Amino acid sequence: MPKVYITRQIPEVGPKMLQDKGYEVATGPEGKTSREELLAGVKGVDAILSVLTETIDAEVLDAAGDQLKVVANYAVGYNNIKVEEAKKRNIKVTNTPGVLTEAVAEHTIALLFAIAERIVEADRYTRAGKYEVWGPKLLLGADLKDKTLGIVGLGRIGSEVARRLQDGFDLKVIYHDVKRNEELEKKFGMEFREMDDLVKEADFISLHTALTPDTKHLMSKERLAMMKPDAYLINTSRGPIVDEKALVEALKDKKIAGAALDVFENEPALSPGLADLENVVITPHIASATKNTRDKMSEMAASNIIAVLDGQTPPNLVKECQ
Ligand code: GLV
Ligand code: GLV
Repeated sequence: MPKVYITRQIPEVGPKMLQDKGYEVATGPEGKTSREELLAGVKGVDAILSVLTETIDAEVLDAAGDQLKVVANYAVGYNNIKVEEAKKRNIKVTNTPGVLTEAVAEHTIALLFAIAERIVEADRYTRAGKYEVWGPKLLLGADLKDKTLGIVGLGRIGSEVARRLQDGFDLKVIYHDVKRNEELEKKFGMEFREMDDLVKEADFISLHTALTPDTKHLMSKERLAMMKPDAYLINTSRGPIVDEKALVEALKDKKIAGAALDVFENEPALSPGLADLENVVITPHIASATKNTRDKMSEMAASNIIAVLDGQTPPNLVKECQ
């Protein structure tokens, strides 16, 4: 019977599908899997169901052995997997696109509101007993209507955030992507910008690109310096897309109005000083964390494994493997 190793505990719908197929399923711990546990756990398996906290590189693939056929990531982003190494060994890599689009878009919008309306800061202020008298200038926030939203990466998630904020809250949308999307430009009146132009023009910049060597520090010190002083940065994609140290400096010196982050450059560590700032809202990589979405991700990862082990093309093969 085929063997599957799941690197961390995930919602049971996927593991159950694998067990119902008669596969032998072993699962890592609920918390972080140590490198030793991972290397021991993958030994002799036909499939790995990986979570983004585990790096799947040559060493892990070799520890698994020649019978390994698929690594199914429980995430849409798959920068934790060395896809080139998998390809060299003829191992398929899959991800979970689509099912988390709405959840991530909604969390992004929640973060945008939280930072613009100073919700978390105001909550801290009120709880601390500082609300003694109503104030004409107390905790003034930013307006959204007619402001410019700059979307970096107009994929599924980026376009969902754009569409909802444009339709629901009257923001104007500009975007940057490696590929222009003329269909969406026409349909929704979103305008393309070169990256630097977007950074200079947007009141809210929201990042929705995959992490690759090309997008690492896309929001560099130089680009952060190009932002308007009253602009905000929102990141629900991957931490290393932003130079976090430079961001902390920009926030400290009030070079930009604020940032709302769900992902961090050296997760779970935060750059020194980040958590001390008032003009930042931070959440622990939970944008896709709704029960329904996490169940669907579990089901999707399991379906990908079943397809490969049945000798079929999995529905969510990553583009580098196609
Ligand atoms: C979560 O971060 C994902 O990529 O699905
Ligand atoms: C991910 O699902 C994306 O395309 O944005």
